[in-house]
Amino acid sequence: MSWPWLEKIDSAFVKWQLKRCHNINDLRRAARIRMPSPMFHYMDGAAEDEVTLKRSCSSFDDYELLPRYLKDVSEIDPSTTILGQPVDIPVLCSPTGMSRLFHHDGELAVSKAAARANTIYTLSTMGTYSVEDVAQACSGPKWFQIYVFKDRTLVTEFIERCKSADYHAMCLTVDITAIGNRERDLRTGMTIPPKFSLAGWFDFALHPLWSLSYLANPPFSLANVEHRVAGGSGDAVMTLVDYISGQFDRSVTWDDAKNMVEEWGAPFVVKGIMTVHDAQKAVEIGASAIMVSTHGGRQLDHTPAPVDVLPEIVAAVGDKVEVILDGGIRRGTDVLKALALGANAVSIGRSYLFGLGAGGEAGVDRALALLKEEIVRDMAILGCRTIDEISADYVRRRP
Ligand code: LAC
Repeated sequence: MSWPWLEKIDSAFVKWQLKRCHNINDLRRAARIRMPSPMFHYMDGAAEDEVTLKRSCSSFDDYELLPRYLKDVSEIDPSTTILGQPVDIPVLCSPTGMSRLFHHDGELAVSKAAARANTIYTLSTMGTYSVEDVAQACSGPKWFQIYVFKDRTLVTEFIERCKSADYHAMCLTVDITAIGNRERDLRTGMTIPPKFSLAGWFDFALHPLWSLSYLANPPFSLANVEHRVAGGSGDAVMTLVDYISGQFDRSVTWDDAKNMVEEWGAPFVVKGIMTVHDAQKAVEIGASAIMVSTHGGRQLDHTPAPVDVLPEIVAAVGDKVEVILDGGIRRGTDVLKALALGANAVSIGRSYLFGLGAGGEAGVDRALALLKEEIVRDMAILGCRTIDEISADYVRRRP
């Protein structure tokens, strides 16, 4: 940041604020205070009536944990391995687009915090820092998430760039065949880059730390694609709907995905699997892992909660690929339930973004630390010393 006085005020405020955050929902409240409403609602909102988003969280309440006592739980180890990569917690950071909207340090802040927590960070195609920027900032394990643009040669470019920058895995998101209908964004008039319009100035003025930091830092850009794709950067202000409708390729098939697996030749993840049918397809094309995910409920409303389809997907393909549960994780107990239902790990999006919005890198540190504390404490009370010990014996569906 080029304004040191602003940095001082900002970090003092963040410190004060984060001390008062004792769980992920507290971070959400703090993010709401700090961020202008178009940015907050873009992050927090989902498609149409947001039924899938609400259920992705509340469905965890339908499962109950079954503790076993009088076991020696003096040492708890929440570490595990994901696609051959050792991590300190069974929680990955999912790809989230345009993190610079939530805090000026965007993807750099999240990737650094993930590395500090020794877990995996996944950079989105729609990131506001590039593959190379993140590789330079982040010493930890990294995945890159692919969206397929109409200019298909971009996929080959992403693969080459990620090979050079030493990314561990590629992750193809399959659920944006059209952008979901996010009505909060229509109401707030969210655009990329953000527009400081006359109508919106009051909102930006009410959130001075976000707004001044935004102005004091390098401008917003879709750093991975702006050299090849027009719009969404510089003066080309547009809605996300226009950008995605104009640029994303809707004709992508399993054959194309298979070609990507072969071209990359290293661990490959398919994100957005919600049926046994698609899970089996992912196995057939040679994926190494799948993410059971509804894109945070931001795409098709009224799909099930990921945790509710997890058991059948694990039963069908759990011995052939690693299964990662993405969606609705807000608590350590949610993580333990997902693992007991057969997931190898979980992945979080909003849970770290609330931290990012509340306080940049320190906020993401706080989000990951809170989840880790909850996981470790709850493993001890559940009676599981290691991630491997968390089995179906420890969970049941509420009668
Ligand atoms: C979103 C896309 C960009 O969910 O991933 O907004």
